Amino acid sequence: MKIALIGYGKMGKAIHQIAQEKNERLGKKVYDVSLIIDVDNRKSITKEELQQVDVAIEFTSPHTAVDNIKWCFDADVPVVVGSTGWTEKLDKIKQFAIDNNKAFLFAPNFSIGVNVFFEVNRYLAQIMNDLDEYDVNMEEIHHTEKKDAPSGTALHAALDVIQRLKRKSNWENVDTNDNSTLTIISKRIDNVPGTHIVTYESSIDKIDLIHTAHNRKGFAGGALLAAEWLQNKKGAFSMEDVLGFNKL
Ligand SMILES: NC(=O)c1ccc[n+]([C@@H]2O[C@H](COP(=O)([O-])OP(=O)(O)OC[C@H]3O[C@@H](n4cnc5c(N)ncnc54)[C@H](O)[C@@H]3O)[C@@H](O)[C@H]2O)c1
Repeated sequence: MKIALIGYGKMGKAIHQIAQEKNERLGKKVYDVSLIIDVDNRKSITKEELQQVDVAIEFTSPHTAVDNIKWCFDADVPVVVGSTGWTEKLDKIKQFAIDNNKAFLFAPNFSIGVNVFFEVNRYLAQIMNDLDEYDVNMEEIHHTEKKDAPSGTALHAALDVIQRLKRKSNWENVDTNDNSTLTIISKRIDNVPGTHIVTYESSIDKIDLIHTAHNRKGFAGGALLAAEWLQNKKGAFSMEDVLGFNKL
C-alpha cells in the first residue's frame, strides 16, 4: 500500500515509524511511505504525484486540514484525516464525499482504546438517563503545543453524551452552574499525549471513565489500520466503521 503522509510532525513521524516497524516484523514492505508532504513542499507536489499513492494520511492542523482534504478529493485519492479542531465543516465534507464518490475517513482519535472508551461512554450516558442524582462533566489533558481546546476527542465524547443524556443540551469549555450544560475542562501539561475523563458524581459516590494514552503509537497504528480498511471503499467513514462497533 503506497501512502502519502500529509503533515510530517509528531503524528506523521509516528505513523512512518509504525509502518517501518510493521514491515520489519512481517519481513516485507506492506506499507510504502512514498510521499512525505509538509509545509516546505506542499505547494510543489503535483496532483499527478499525489495520484501515485493508494491512500493519503492527513495530520496537519485545524487551519490546513480542509484544504488538504479537498486536494485529495480533487485527485481522487482516499484520505484518512486525523487533524482536529475543524469539525464545524465536517458534515459538509462528509456529504461531499458521499455525493461525489470520494473515500474519506475522519476520526478525532484513532486509538483503539479511545474508541472502546467512546463506546462505553455512549452506553453509560444511555443508562444514566434515569439516574438524575448524578451530574456529569469532562476533563481532557494534553501537551502544551496542542492548538485546539477542547480536544477533538473530548468534543466527540461530549456530543455523544448530549445526544443520549436528556438533562444535557450543550457543552462549554468553562465551569458553569447551568445544569443543562456539560462542562469540559481543558488542561495543558508538558509531554502529555492525551488523557480524557468522564465523571458522573452524586452526593454519595463518583464514577470515573478514564482513558490515558501512554504515547502516540495507538493513534498511529489506528490511522494505518483505517488506511488499509478504506481501500476500495467510497463514502464517508469513521473508526466505528473500521472497528465494527454499532453506534448505540
Ligand atoms: N486523530 C487522532 O488520533 C490525533 C492524534 C494526535 C493528534 N491529532 C491531531 O493531528 C494534528 C497534527 O498533530 P501533530 O501532533 O502531528 O502536530 P505537529 O504540529 O507536530 O505536526 C503538524 C505538521 O503539519 C505540518 N503542516 C502544517 N500545515 C501543513 C500543510 N498545509 N500541508 C502539509 N503539512 C502541513 C506542520 O509543518 C507540522 O510538521 C493536530 O490537529 C492534532 O490535534 C489527532
